[in-house]
Amino acid sequence: MADSSFPAALAALKKHRAEVPKDMRAAFANDPGRFEKFSLSDGDLLLDWSKCAVTETTMGLLAQAAEAAGVEQRRDAMFAGEKINVTENRAVLHTALRQPRGATVLVDGHNVVPDVHAVLDAMERFSDAVRSGQARGATGKAITDVVNIGIGGSDLGPVMATLALAPWHDGPRAHYVSNIDGAHMHDTLKGLDPQTTLFIVASKTFTTVETMTNAQTAKRWIVAELGEGAVASHFAAVSTALDLVAKFGIAEDRVFGFWDWVGGRYSLWGAIGLPIMIAVGAGNFRDFLAGAHEMDEHFLTAPLLRNLPAVLGLVGYWHRVACGYPARAVIPYDQRLSRFPAYLQQLDMESNGKHVALDGNAVATPTGPLVWGEPGTNGQHAFFQLLHQGTDVIPIEFLAAAVGHEPELKHHHDLLLSNVLAQSAALMKGRTLDEAKAQMLAKGMKPADVEAIAPHRVFAGNRPSVTVLYRSLDPRTLGRLIALYEHRVFVEGAMFDINSFDQWGVELGKELATGLLPVVEGKEDAAMHDASTAGLVQHIKRLS
Ligand code: F6P
Repeated sequence: MADSSFPAALAALKKHRAEVPKDMRAAFANDPGRFEKFSLSDGDLLLDWSKCAVTETTMGLLAQAAEAAGVEQRRDAMFAGEKINVTENRAVLHTALRQPRGATVLVDGHNVVPDVHAVLDAMERFSDAVRSGQARGATGKAITDVVNIGIGGSDLGPVMATLALAPWHDGPRAHYVSNIDGAHMHDTLKGLDPQTTLFIVASKTFTTVETMTNAQTAKRWIVAELGEGAVASHFAAVSTALDLVAKFGIAEDRVFGFWDWVGGRYSLWGAIGLPIMIAVGAGNFRDFLAGAHEMDEHFLTAPLLRNLPAVLGLVGYWHRVACGYPARAVIPYDQRLSRFPAYLQQLDMESNGKHVALDGNAVATPTGPLVWGEPGTNGQHAFFQLLHQGTDVIPIEFLAAAVGHEPELKHHHDLLLSNVLAQSAALMKGRTLDEAKAQMLAKGMKPADVEAIAPHRVFAGNRPSVTVLYRSLDPRTLGRLIALYEHRVFVEGAMFDINSFDQWGVELGKELATGLLPVVEGKEDAAMHDASTAGLVQHIKRLS
């Protein structure tokens, strides 16, 4: 928990916000060293936050607030396996999933690293067997399609990483079914052959209604075509609930476990990553883990203001708490990271969307922002209008690779990079009324038209953005990027003084859905529910 100096550190930050210079054109003009001061790299990964309204004093005050919040002590406690998820009395050790063989991480006195590697090795054997055609379907045909059935953390990470690593994808085709909407399963199965399809049922709890419903549908699809005896050859499972998996009928040697100290949204590094491993091979998957481990080491050892996740978290905290910005956009100028914003939404918003502090009282400040985004340049032709000229300031995080994967399409990549650079510069610089007028007059417009239209062509500027640059999106870099974001969420959560590792907020809707199913099915009367719910049910009945 935060120490007694935290309120003063927070007050100093807020006071400083009122005083900090906000004219970014002037900030760059007055200080040729601004980029060097407010950018940081580790290896080929660079973070540039120089376009945000911060000074060296800001960074110093943020570091003081982080120290008062106990960010480093909390980080050490997490890595050491202390039960920092206090509302569930669990350790938080997704970092153990990417520890090298031979490391030691103790949970209740037990070294979990050998267990982690035993599962990774079992995944590798299975993945190799599927990829090589040694593990075949019930009729003897090789597996051509893998369908992962999971939702939330058992879906978003693997979907995102599979897309991100497309250039390394040389295994069977990968499909992901998450939604309980039957359309998702139906449309996925439409093009598939049961004889060559393998399902992975991925659920930490093995009780999630979406996943269990979809898994039963998939099982019926296999049984209808190939008979009950085919289930063993066409299903694998990933779960912490091994007893429930056994009840489902999945062969023991196709069950890959993990542990309650891995949160769902932090789980793609272990067995939940099985579909990624089958897609790209165990070697690439292990490079992905090694990249994340590198970021862990950096996070553990670099001083706060030389520490990429810490700085990203502190800048996020500055924008959210001192500046009061309610949202942040994450815009990868990297098409293969197209699902990264969706993945981050769970990582960030399920972790830090909380209103109660660790001591059980209401939080003292706003907590996690709304996180959203789409890849660039697509976003430019959709919602960037609001980012440039809307009435709210929304900080943006741009991600881009210096080098694309397709050398023959380098001119595409050059255009992509010129766009990401142009957007962050435009957001920062803006365009004044005088500049707008001068530009229009230079184009030969009539002075009366210029007067009328110029105000619409003004950009306020001073809109903050952070740019994350890396060499190219390979497995190791992807591991580093995801771990960077995991730890930034940790830093912000520690500053907010909340538990970032539970998710009670998803429970109420689940409970009510269970209660409403008999109403939708027509087995119970809707009248006992609120008038809106009852009215909606009646309308559904009329339409169906
Ligand atoms: O509903 C939220 C949640 O519990 C997430 O935290 C989790 O990632 C997801 O559901 C799926 O849970 P499971 O892996 O247990 O099916």
